[in-house]
Amino acid sequence: MDRRALVGGNWKMHLDAATAAALGRDIAASAASVAARIDMAIFPPYPYLGAVVEAIQGRIAVGGQDVAAEAEGAFTGQVSASMLRDCGCTTTLVGHSERRHGLGETNQLLARKVRQAIDGRLRVLLCVGETLEDREAGQTREVVLGQLEGSLEGISTDDMAMVDLAYEPIWAIGTGRTAGPAEAQEVHEVLRSAVGVRYDARSAARIRIVYGGSVKPSNVADLMACEDVDGALVGGASLQAGSFIEIARATAGLE
Ligand code: 13P
Repeated sequence: MDRRALVGGNWKMHLDAATAAALGRDIAASAASVAARIDMAIFPPYPYLGAVVEAIQGRIAVGGQDVAAEAEGAFTGQVSASMLRDCGCTTTLVGHSERRHGLGETNQLLARKVRQAIDGRLRVLLCVGETLEDREAGQTREVVLGQLEGSLEGISTDDMAMVDLAYEPIWAIGTGRTAGPAEAQEVHEVLRSAVGVRYDARSAARIRIVYGGSVKPSNVADLMACEDVDGALVGGASLQAGSFIEIARATAGLE
């Protein structure tokens, strides 16, 4: 099965209102030829979603960096799936390592977020990834599979049509250190076959598994050449329209 590549830009807690809108406009201005070939999405900070959605004009997807584990209620500071939809989002990140490790979000909690996103008609980009300590202890496989299984608790085969995965080794995020193509491919293959075992062959063939961690225009081509790498989730290099578009173009096979 041919998988349509996906390139996401995670803006994290960067930019201000004016620069976020300007970045959205700059991306929209050059995204058309690329977005015809691959899927693109950006994940701005919550307060700027409305302005960025307006700037993007439907050219690419806009998503939340997180979503609440509940549909509505007394959950101060949280943003629900339906609120994200109201703001024009069609997708959301779930389980980014800065939330798993930085904020202590558990697999159990993340499974509820995945459920809420899907019920709210948002696509999910579910992130998994090991620490340097895990990797050096030879635990990469166990760790990412544990995250995958735990975060997909209660998610059915039909639900999986709404889910993509991001493999983001924590030691490669914001460090300038990227997993080599062989290291990335090895984990992506493990994840894809785990989806096949847990769900079915069709889900495994269909699910997109993107790589994140210091992806740059200079290293993207080698990563995309890997059979099981279906795109990229970009942090730092997504904060400039030029480098983000360059990464997307390389992923789309454009010069
Ligand atoms: P960097 O590209 O800055 O390493 O960030 C990766 C990331 O965490 C994307 O979600």
